[in-house]
Amino acid sequence: MPIRHFLELSDLTPAEVRKLIARGIELKAQRHNRETNSLMQQKTAVLVFEKSSTRTRVSFEAGINQFGGSAIFMAPSDSQLSRGEPIEDTSMVLSRMVDMIIMRTSSHERVVHMAKHASVPVINALSDFNHPCQQLADIQTFMEHRGDLKGHKVAWVGDGNNVCHSWMNAAKLLDFELVVATPPGYGPSTLLLEQCSSNVTLTSDPQSATNNASLVVTDTWTGMGQEEEKVNREKAFSGFCVDHSLMRLAKKDALFMHCLPAYRGYEVTSEVIDGPQSVVWDEAENRLHAQKALMEFLLKH
Ligand code: CP
Ligand code: NVA
Repeated sequence: MPIRHFLELSDLTPAEVRKLIARGIELKAQRHNRETNSLMQQKTAVLVFEKSSTRTRVSFEAGINQFGGSAIFMAPSDSQLSRGEPIEDTSMVLSRMVDMIIMRTSSHERVVHMAKHASVPVINALSDFNHPCQQLADIQTFMEHRGDLKGHKVAWVGDGNNVCHSWMNAAKLLDFELVVATPPGYGPSTLLLEQCSSNVTLTSDPQSATNNASLVVTDTWTGMGQEEEKVNREKAFSGFCVDHSLMRLAKKDALFMHCLPAYRGYEVTSEVIDGPQSVVWDEAENRLHAQKALMEFLLKH
């Protein structure tokens, strides 16, 4: 059987996504009951991280430990990649030593390159293009609270960034409506927009995007690697803060999501993120369970 990688959500079929989420929910219940699972006993995963992380690193390392396996973390400056060792050499060497490679990087091409030369599953733990592991956790969170996304309207308000791209992929794959509201010049990939046009529309009006939505999602205005643009971005994004008045346009029982880290007073007010419609802590916890389901799926294929 060919190795399965997880570089974007569409590496899974819609049926596989739904099955994986159901398994994530099951693994969550098992974890809460402190049941043991030795899926990764004698197995090792390496985390090659070229960017900072709290949730992704800890959820993968904790999940691997809970499965009885071991995790090796390589920080941005730890590996020979930072000194120019080719990705293909790194990939072939790691494949001879470990059972899984989990990579967080800037250019999406780097994780694609890693997977191309790997003989073990490679997981994309965020690139500048997308964040599919976050997407699994977000889908699990919505399903736990509201059931399947099909038939719902989701509003993305803010930057047309990597997390937005994953929501676009999800809209197409799971067949729900996504309206993306960004300031002009900060929209998502036009190619992806074209590919997802059956389910995704773009606007510069956060109010119309949010109107009657079942879920409102945002993310930081300044992603990792964009720090120099922070001042300009804050100007461009004024009017795109998810506040109480914007949430009131959504459905009465609408949920609010943010992948975190969040910057209160910028992309979201504390009233919203710390309020009753926010499910951000569930989203963060579900990184653990959804990724355990993902690792199990990839190791069993
Ligand atoms: N949401 C997310 O990926 O968080 P970290 O950057 O802390 O891993
Ligand atoms: N869009 C953010 C997500 C962080 C988890 C970034 O890329 O920095």
